[in-house]
Amino acid sequence: MNKNDETKHLIANITHQAINPLNGVLGTIDNIIDGTISDDRRNQRLGSARAQLEYTITLIRNLAYFAQYGGDDPQIQKASVKTTVIPQCLIEGAMFFQEQADNKRMKVYVKNKNIQNAIKGDPDLLRQVFMNIVDNYIKYGNEGSTVFVDHWIQKKTNDLIIKIEGESIPFSSEERIFELGVRGKDAEGKTSSGSGLGLHICKLIIEKLFFGKISAEYISGRKVSVFEIRMPNGFVTESR
Ligand SMILES: Nc1ncnc2c1ncn2[C@@H]1O[C@H](COP(=O)(O)OP(=O)(O)OP(=O)(O)O)[C@@H](O)[C@H]1O
Ligand SMILES: [Mg+2]
Repeated sequence: MNKNDETKHLIANITHQAINPLNGVLGTIDNIIDGTISDDRRNQRLGSARAQLEYTITLIRNLAYFAQYGGDDPQIQKASVKTTVIPQCLIEGAMFFQEQADNKRMKVYVKNKNIQNAIKGDPDLLRQVFMNIVDNYIKYGNEGSTVFVDHWIQKKTNDLIIKIEGESIPFSSEERIFELGVRGKDAEGKTSSGSGLGLHICKLIIEKLFFGKISAEYISGRKVSVFEIRMPNGFVTESR
């Protein structure tokens, strides 16, 4: 595929991903208007519709971040005065997926909740990174499994490390999963929904805005995938 066709393909794919949940919401509203949803199922359906809307918002937010920070001349945020506190922003991100996780009997477990590490930078951006990663675990993780999230300041380097680990389908190191539009071959078989945008946005945000690194590996012996985010100049704010 040439670059132009690739872009068209990507846009078609993303549009499809945005329209699907919106159609779900429309369906729910129609059913409420014509009275085909019983009173006792109403709240549950409204809850799902809300989750679908939220999903579409994160997708569009990814696109906005891509427009802002992608390409060769990104609009880098000015020296940020904001501070991101870990694990708060991880816990918020995990809560977003509560319902989808429940549906697959999965749990997202944040370790070391009582230690507060922090980093200079916008919490909205780091939350988006984390949400894209958890979204993937919900899609590609094993039913009934737990996703473990941990964070610490590495003593020697002062780097803030965030590590996410969980059982999932495999990917190989040759598959360049952080590149725009790249999906693993096993992912294609697992779910048709996806355009290879999520991890690319993670990489843009971590590298260009937090000046850090993000990496992933699949450990076939334990059948787990591990994502590691490493950002310079983390600091401890509180330890209870
Ligand atoms: N937790 C995971 N477990 C196994 N494979 C993963 C995991 N996260 C990502 N991958 C692999 O990396 C690929 C790229 O992920 P990315 O989030 O960029 O795209 P996507 O999930 O396919 O689509 P999108 O995020 O745009 O909906 C996935 O298609 C999958 O092959
Ligand atoms: Mg994804």
